Amino acid sequence: MHDATASASTGGVDHLVGRDADLNRIVSLLVSSSAGSALLLSGEAGVGKTELLDAVARTASEAGMYVLRAAGVQFEADVSYSALNQALLPLTDFFDSLSSTHQDAIKVALGLRVGTPPERLLLSNAALALLQARVLKGPVLLVVDDLQWVDRASAAVFGFIARRLTGNPISFLGASRTETGSFFERSGLPQLELPPLDEDASTRLVDSRFPGLAPAVRRRVLETAQGNPLALLELPSALRAGQRGAQEILPYVLPLSQRLQSLFVSRVRSLPTGTRYLLLVATLDGTGDLSTLHAAARESGGEVDLEDLAPAKHDQLVSLDTSSRRLVFRHPLISSAVVEISTGHERRAAHRALARVQSDPERRAWHLGEATLEPDEQVAVQLEQHARRILNRGDAVAAIAALTRAADLSPVDTDRARRLTEAAYIGADATGSLRSASELLKDARRVDPYQRRSLHFAAAAVQLLLNSDGDVRTAHRLLAGAIAEGKHGYDATNVALTDALHLLLLLCFYGGSPEMWEPFQTAVDQLRPEPPPLLAVAVQTFGDPARAEAAAVSQLTRILDTAMDETDSARIVRMGTASIYPDRLSALREPSWRVVHQGRDGGPVRRHLGGLMHLCLDSYHSGRWDETAQLADEGLQLCEESGYSFFAWYFLYNKAIVAASRGDTDTAQALADQMADWATPRGVRAALDYARHVQAVASISDGDFESAFRHASAVSPPGQLARYTPHALWVIFDLVESAIRSNHRAEAVNHVRALREAHVDELSPRLGLLLGGCAALACVEDDLALRLFDKSLSARGIDRWPFDRARVQLAHGERLRRSRETMAARGSLLSALRIFEQLGARSWAQRATKELRAAGWNGPRSDDHPKQELTPQEREIAQLAASGLTNKQIAEQLFISHRTVGAHLYQVYPKLGISSRAALRDALTALEASGFDG
Ligand SMILES: Nc1ncnc2c1ncn2[C@@H]1O[C@H](COP(=O)(O)OP(=O)(O)OP(=O)(O)O)[C@@H](O)[C@H]1O
Ligand SMILES: [Mg+2]
Repeated sequence: MHDATASASTGGVDHLVGRDADLNRIVSLLVSSSAGSALLLSGEAGVGKTELLDAVARTASEAGMYVLRAAGVQFEADVSYSALNQALLPLTDFFDSLSSTHQDAIKVALGLRVGTPPERLLLSNAALALLQARVLKGPVLLVVDDLQWVDRASAAVFGFIARRLTGNPISFLGASRTETGSFFERSGLPQLELPPLDEDASTRLVDSRFPGLAPAVRRRVLETAQGNPLALLELPSALRAGQRGAQEILPYVLPLSQRLQSLFVSRVRSLPTGTRYLLLVATLDGTGDLSTLHAAARESGGEVDLEDLAPAKHDQLVSLDTSSRRLVFRHPLISSAVVEISTGHERRAAHRALARVQSDPERRAWHLGEATLEPDEQVAVQLEQHARRILNRGDAVAAIAALTRAADLSPVDTDRARRLTEAAYIGADATGSLRSASELLKDARRVDPYQRRSLHFAAAAVQLLLNSDGDVRTAHRLLAGAIAEGKHGYDATNVALTDALHLLLLLCFYGGSPEMWEPFQTAVDQLRPEPPPLLAVAVQTFGDPARAEAAAVSQLTRILDTAMDETDSARIVRMGTASIYPDRLSALREPSWRVVHQGRDGGPVRRHLGGLMHLCLDSYHSGRWDETAQLADEGLQLCEESGYSFFAWYFLYNKAIVAASRGDTDTAQALADQMADWATPRGVRAALDYARHVQAVASISDGDFESAFRHASAVSPPGQLARYTPHALWVIFDLVESAIRSNHRAEAVNHVRALREAHVDELSPRLGLLLGGCAALACVEDDLALRLFDKSLSARGIDRWPFDRARVQLAHGERLRRSRETMAARGSLLSALRIFEQLGARSWAQRATKELRAAGWNGPRSDDHPKQELTPQEREIAQLAASGLTNKQIAEQLFISHRTVGAHLYQVYPKLGISSRAALRDALTALEASGFDG
C-alpha cells in the first residue's frame, strides 16, 4: 500500500488523489479476477484517465501481471499499426511459439519483415495467439490510452482482442476522451465514465501542489476547474506569485496555461465571429443574463443577434437555462478560452456595450474603465468612487486596481498623482504589496512633485520605510512633518488626517521617547471640533497607561460596547490597541477573530496581523498558550510572506513569552536576543522592553532572581513608572518578586509605593491582583502580608488570568509555609500547582511541588505506578504532544513519519500510567516534579 513516509518526503504529489473507489473497482474487475475481462474508461480531457491508467498498471504489475501498454498519438492516426507495434513489440521472444502464418502476419504488420500486408482477421487472430502464448507464463493486462487517436488498423485489432477475452487470464483496459469519435468500436464493451474529482479531493490536490495559495485564490481555482485535475494543477501555475498570495488582484477571468489552452481554444476559435462576440459579452458580464446579453448585442449595431449563439449550443460549449433565462457555459474553462483568444479591441467593444446597458453603477464604472483608452475625467471619477466603495467592503486589492485605472485615465497630472498616491497608501497600509506601493509612489512623484507633501504620500512612505530597514525616528519625523505642514485645518472629520494620527501614535509607541509624543499631542490638541474619541482614549491607555485618567478608561468601556457590531476592520484593530494595557482584549476576541478570518480569506494583511497580535496577547493572559504559539507562528509567516517585516517582533515576543512561562528558557532567551538585536539599531524601544519582559520571566523560571531584577528594572527603574513606558505595567510582579528574592527589599518597597500612587489597580483587575501580590511580597510583617494576599486573591474575576493568579498563590503559599501555617500553605500551593500543570508552566510547577514537599505534602509520586523510564525520543515526542501539536506537526518538526510518532506515543501512555493525550501534560509535569524531588 501507499507508504506514508514516502509520501511525506515528496509532499504527497505522487499520490493519486480521490480515486480510491475507481481504482478499486477497476482492479477488482481486471486484476483480481482470474478470468480476463475488458473495460473502457472515458472522460473529459484532463480528468485524470492517464493518471488512473498508470495506477492500475502499477497495481497490476505489483500483483504479478504482465502489463503491455500503448497509446494513440494525435497526429499519427494514419500510420498503420503504430499502436499495435507499441503493444506487441515486448513479446518478440514469444514469436517462435506461433504458427508460421501467424508469425508472418505479425512480423509484417509490425514492420519487422517486408511482405504483403496481412489480412485483418488473420492478424487479429495472430495477435490473440501471441497473447495466449505469453499467458502461459502468467496473466496479462493490455492497456491502451487515448483510443481516440489510435490508428484505424490497430483499433480494429484491439477491438477484436477486447471481445474475445473470456476464459483467458488476459484483460484489456482502454481509455478515450468523451465526445470524440474513434476507430475503436466500443459497442458491447463495459464502459466507465470517469467523473471530475469531488470538492474534497480537488482541495487536497491543490493544497498538496500549491500549499501557499491564498484562500480566496484557491476558491477561485476550485470554482473554475470544477474538479478537472488538469485545470486544478495548471490554473495556479499560470498565475504570478503575487496573485497566488492574493497580494495582487486576480484577473477577472483566470488565464490559461499552454496545456489548458490547447484543450478549449481550438473549439472556440472555430466558431463564427458573431458567436464569439456574444460569448465574450456573456463572459465579461459574468451573470449570463439573457436580457443583458440581448441588449448588449443590440448595442453592437444590429449585426449580432441571440440567434448567433446556435453554433456554440450545437458544439455543446454552452446551454440555455430557460427557467432562469441564463446562458450557461458547459465548463468555466470555455469562457477563459473565449477571453484568451479575443483581441483588446474586441474586449473594449464588449465592455463598452455592457457599460451602456448596465444599470448597476459599480458594474458600469468597471466596464467603463475597461472600455476606455483615452484619458477621461468623468470615467476616472466614477472609478475613484467605485474604489472607495470596494475599499469599504474590505477589498483593498481591488480598490488599488480601480484607483490605478482611474489614475491612468486622469487627464490632469495632479489628479493622476493624487490617485496614484492614494493607491500606494492603501497598498502600504493594508495589503502589504509594498513593492508595488513604492513603484506607485515613484510614479506619483514623477507626475506631480508636490504630491510628496500629501498625508497619503507620507503615510505610505512611512510604511515602506519601517518595513525596509529604515529607523523609527526618521519615519516619525517624516509623518509628523507632513501633519504639521498639511493643509487640513485640523479638521477632525478628515479621514486622511485621523489615519495619519493613528499611524503616528504607533510610531511614538515604537520609539517610546517622550519628545516623540510632543508633536503628536500638539496635533491632537488642535483637532476641531474635538479629537475622535477612540484616538483620544488610545493616547492615554496605550501611550501612557500608568497616567491614564479614569474618564479615559470608562470611555474605552463605552467604545468596546460597540465592538460586536463593528465591521470596519481597521477600527477593530485600533480598539485593540487601546485595550492592551487596560486588559480589555477579551472583549474583542470575536471581532478580532473576524478580522483574522477575513485576512485568511485574502483580506487586508495588515489588519490580519493586528487581529493576530491582539488574539495572541489575550490568549497568553487567559492561559491559552497553545493558541498563542500557533497564532504567533501564523503572524511570523505572514510578515515574511507579505513584506511587513517590521511587525515580526510582536510575534517573536508572543512565542518567547510562552516559552519563558513554560520553562523553555533557552528558546525564550534566543528569541529575546533576536528581538533586541533587531530593535536596538532601529530605535524600537518598545520591542526592547518586550524583550526585557521575556528575559525577566525566563530568569525567574530559571531561579535566577538577580538577573530577573536587572531585566525588569531596565524597563523602568524601581520606584518609578517611567513616562510613556506602558510595558512597565507588565513587569511589576517580576520586578517586585525578583527584588525581594535578590536582596533588594528597599527597591521593592519603593516600587510598590509608585504603583499605589499611580492607582494601577484602577486600570484593570489583573493589575489589581498583581499590585496586591507585590504589596504582600514587599511587606515585612507576616500578618499584614497574609491579609494582603487574601484580599487580592479573593477579588472577583481574577480567574480570567490563571498564570498571574497562580503566581500570586504560589507566593502566598510560600509565605504561609514560612509562617508555619502548613495546612493553609498546602491548599494555596496545590491550587497553584494545578494551574501551572494545566498551563504547562513546568518550572513553576516544580517550584510549587518543592514547596509542597517542604510543607510535608507527599502527593502522588511517580513510583505510585510502576515506573518505566521514557527514552529521550519518547520524552521529546511526549512533550511536543503535550504542548498541543498534532502527530503530523510533530513528525514535521522531528523529520520522522507521523506513524512513528503514533507508535512512540503508544509506548509512552502505559509508561506514564495514562490512557489519553489529554492527560499527557499533567503526567509529564508529575514526572518532572518527581525527578526534581529525587
Ligand atoms: N487523481 C489524481 N491525483 C493527482 N493528480 C492527478 C489526478 N488525476 C489527474 N492528475 C493530474 O492531472 C493532470 C491531468 O491528468 P491526465 O493526464 O491523467 O488526464 P487525462 O484524462 O488523461 O487527459 P487527456 O484526455 O488530455 O489525456 C496530470 O498532470 C495528472 O498528473
Ligand atoms: Mg491522458
